[in-house]
Amino acid sequence: MAYKVPFIDYPAHYGQHRQELLDRIDRMLSAGDVMLRGQLRDFEAHYAAFVGAAHCYGVGNGTDGLQLALLAAGIGTGDEVITVSHTMVATAAAIHHAGATPVLVDIAGDHLMDMDRVEEAITPRTKAIMPVHLNGRLCDMDRLMGIAEKHRLLVVEDAAQAVGASFNATKAGAFGIAGAFSFYPAKILGTYGDAGAVVTSDPEVAERVRLLRNHGRTETNDVAFWSFNSRMDNLHAVILDMKLQWLPDWLLRRREIAQQYQEMLAGVSELVLPPAPAEEGVHHDVFQNYEVEAEDRDGLVDHLRNAGIEIMLPWGGKAVHQFANLGLGHFADRLPATERLFPRLLLLPMYCELADGQVEYVAKAVRGFYGS
Ligand SMILES: Cc1ncc(COP(=O)(O)O)c(C=O)c1O
Repeated sequence: MAYKVPFIDYPAHYGQHRQELLDRIDRMLSAGDVMLRGQLRDFEAHYAAFVGAAHCYGVGNGTDGLQLALLAAGIGTGDEVITVSHTMVATAAAIHHAGATPVLVDIAGDHLMDMDRVEEAITPRTKAIMPVHLNGRLCDMDRLMGIAEKHRLLVVEDAAQAVGASFNATKAGAFGIAGAFSFYPAKILGTYGDAGAVVTSDPEVAERVRLLRNHGRTETNDVAFWSFNSRMDNLHAVILDMKLQWLPDWLLRRREIAQQYQEMLAGVSELVLPPAPAEEGVHHDVFQNYEVEAEDRDGLVDHLRNAGIEIMLPWGGKAVHQFANLGLGHFADRLPATERLFPRLLLLPMYCELADGQVEYVAKAVRGFYGS
């Protein structure tokens, strides 16, 4: 079915920069630059500067980025890492594959880690906290860094959804010992395949990430330790470096759309909207997603789909602890807000190429469902 308002519009996005993209790729391939070359180093330098971190290493995807960041920070077998259940399974999987155990805490009103629930989850085995800056909004990093310092815990940020977002003017990825980003195609800064990055200002962590992503191979043809193959392809680096120049405009557009939704949906009592750009205080949100809470969520989703609007549910409708095969179901009792919220959540279309008329069409359809 062709949607009037698709959830994401890849052809429209590609159409905007098609020729420049093809020219850059042509130059790169004509020069024979395919792996671990100048294009990757350029992107890494530019992205580190963008985040405000000393180092950046491109990796195969965001999930690998999280795992390598944990391993590079010294987290592994027997350790516990505190995170949330309202996240992609990738967050918990990265902790699991690092050899550690994910410990899930509940979320607060803005759908991010509830800082009032973190300390009670700390045990003698807790080694790190992995805040998830979901939907383009940072967790309360003042409180989180305070808790981490008090209990001598490391912070590894899941910044997969928070490219360019900040808290108190510090960008996502620049708070913890390391942070990982995803450049999956649907992300704010997305390529045309899988890619990710780890940023850090710790030189030792940086060096371990650099080795971990490339079999542990050193310049002297030695192998430093058991490692992985998770290199970012030059192809993706060249695309991401090109897109980085337009990122500030794209972030502005996302915030503009969020403000439009806010104004057009204000007063619909059956909805809870995310914090609006105009009222965000120390946060600077970039709206990777526009996630709303809605009464009769399933009825609203049917209504919007029938109106030609493509709607997604976060993670297909389940929080991480609700995937029975992962063995994390015992956390349910500790996650009342997550449990309460999940049947109410949906994502409205949110991407730079959305036209004002499409935003208005979505908002009108939502209002129409509630008769307001
Ligand atoms: C919150 C979060 N963490 C981790 C990831 C994993 O990133 P990737 O798909 O690049 O492995 C994603 C990607 O969707 C995500 O949204």
